[in-house]
Order: sequence, then C-alpha cells, then structure tokens
Amino acid sequence: MGADEDQAALLALRASAARYRLILESSTEFAIIAADGDRRITEWNAGAEKIFQWREEEVLGRRADLIFTEEDQANGAPAREASTADAEGRAVDDRWHLRKDGARFWGSGMMFPLRDGARGYLKILYDRTEHRNAEERQKLLLGELQHRVRNILAVVRSLARRTIEMSPNLQEFEQSFDGRLATLARTQNVLTRSGDVALELGELIRDELAAVGASVGDRVTVQGPDVKLRRRAAEVVALAAHELATNALKHGALAVPDGRLDVRWRLVPGADGPLLSMEWRERGVSFPEGAPARKGFGRELIEQGLPYELGAATSLEFDVEGLRATIRFPLCQGDEGEQDA
Ligand SMILES: Nc1ncnc2c1ncn2[C@@H]1O[C@H](COP(=O)(O)OP(=O)(O)O)[C@@H](O)[C@H]1O
Ligand SMILES: [Mg+2]
Repeated sequence: MGADEDQAALLALRASAARYRLILESSTEFAIIAADGDRRITEWNAGAEKIFQWREEEVLGRRADLIFTEEDQANGAPAREASTADAEGRAVDDRWHLRKDGARFWGSGMMFPLRDGARGYLKILYDRTEHRNAEERQKLLLGELQHRVRNILAVVRSLARRTIEMSPNLQEFEQSFDGRLATLARTQNVLTRSGDVALELGELIRDELAAVGASVGDRVTVQGPDVKLRRRAAEVVALAAHELATNALKHGALAVPDGRLDVRWRLVPGADGPLLSMEWRERGVSFPEGAPARKGFGRELIEQGLPYELGAATSLEFDVEGLRATIRFPLCQGDEGEQDA
C-alpha cells in the first residue's frame, strides 16, 4: 500500500471513530458505560454524566461499583451482575442506584459482556424513577380502591340484613333499603367528585333533607360552623340524618302542617380534641306519654349504631314539643375543617 492509501485508511478510521463517539455522546438520556474485566470504567458517555453527575475524568479507571447503593456494594451485587453477564450473555440491572451527591434514583438497564479479546463489560441504563413512582402510586391507589369496595360492600350487607329484619313486608323493605342505598351513594358521589377525603357536615344534612323533599326555609333551619367529616364518619352521619329526616316526614314535625325542625351543631372542647355536638330539634308532634314503644332501624342506628361506629354519645327524647335527638362524638384529627388545610 502506498502512503496515500495509508493516509486515506487512517482518515476513514478516524472518521468512523468520531462517528461512534458522536453516537455515544448524543445519547444523553442513556448512560452508556464500558468497563474492563476488573469492572474499572473505560468509557463514560454524556448520558452517564447527566444521570450519575460524575464527570468522565472523575470516574475513568475507577470501579463501576460506585453507581450501586451502599447495600448493594456491601452484598456483592456488582460482581454478581458481572458474572451473570459472563454466564448468560446479559444481566438485567433494575434497581436503586446512586448519583454522585448520594441521591438515589431507579435505574433500569442491562449489562453485556464485551468479547473483543480483552474481557470487559458494557452497561446501558436510564433513569426510570418517575415511571417507578407512578407505578407505586398506582399500586397504592388500587389497594385503596379494593379496600373501599370491600368496606362499602360490608356496609351494604349489614344495611340489607338489618333492613330485612326490621321490615314487615317486601314493599317496605324495598322503600327503606332504596332510601338508605341512595344516601350511601350520595356520600360516595360527593367524596369521589370532590376528590376530597372529607365531607362538609352542613352540605350533608341539607342533602339528606332535600332527598326527602324538605328544603331549608321558614319551617326548617340548619346552622353550624364548617366541619369536615372523614369518609367513615360522613357515611354514618349521613345515614343517621337520612333516618331522622324520613322519621320527621313519616311521624314527626314534617308530617304536620305547623311543625318545624331546627338542626344545630357546634364544636366543644373534649379531652382528646374537639367534639362535634349536634341537636336535631322537632316541634309540632307532642309526646305527653314519653317515647313510643316501637324501635325500628332509625332508633337503633342512632341509639346503638352511632355509639358503636363513632364512639358517639346519643339521645332520643320524645317530649311535649316533639322529638329531640342529640349526637356528640369526637372529631378525630383531620375531621375538623381547619386541620385539613
Ligand atoms: N321524628 C319523630 N317524630 C315522632 N315520632 C317519631 C319520630 N321518629 C321516630 N318516631 C317514633 O319512633 C318509632 C321508631 O322509629 P324508627 O326506629 O325510625 O322506626 P320506623 O321509622 O321504622 O317506625 C316510630 O315508629 C315513631 O313512632
Ligand atoms: Mg324510621
């Protein structure tokens, strides 16, 4: 070969080396790392600089183990990965890695043995932290959803059982059960629509009154400070409000032309935080003889269900003016509006 041909071959070789260099350096989202048989770094592209924060000159010649977490370095993961690559032609690298500043990220990639005579390794990897976090969030959400579905089914089941036991016939069962399910559905809807974890008490009471056709006006007043109820409390209190409202309509103040209903609540200090203290006062149906004998689902829920579910203290009094129901229970942390913000 003449000198000209030598020169041309050299130029071609340089051009192709430059091209490969360019390809490596353009892959800024992928770390491309080569190491010798001793796992010492020989190539470190721009993507590796970006992802790991180490500059090429800082790491050339150093053990590639430095991108592994301390635990993985201690438990021999780098050497295991290399021997898997040797044995199987590749090794999956899907784990937490370390940046120069010590921050962790989820790197996902693969390691291959380099078989060009000199033993060595090639690793290609990218930062998958965001993906992984999204997957984790999704898993959490799915778990939460399954949990809620199980809960709501349990609630529906016990509602059905008690409503069957308390209903004299199928027609009454259908009517009561339908009303109770509709209340549950309303609570779920509001919670889902707002994407909120809590439900405002005033809104809840007004919704339940509206559902039985009693809107706030001259005969019906609803008053109290903003209070947010957590999911479980909201569910139970909504059911109680539904029973009180249907009773008022069926037997009480809303069944007579001049009856009236006043719902009031306030927060009072308790030993472990604020208590919600609520009064449902009806006027217009007199009980000179005291409480009627019958106890159905409504009285059971308020006298036994609320104490059991919410640790509430409740009372139902039937006096000369009408029914007076009181409900008092501790708002756990976060039940109160201000604490949620
Ligand atoms: N707001 C009310 N006004 C007058 N009487 C009521 C009121 N709420 C309940 N009662 C009386 O208490 C009884 C039991 O109520 P409840 O447990 O809800 O069962 P039900 O409504 O199926 O009769 C009623 O039958 C009624 O006699
Ligand atoms: Mg009733």
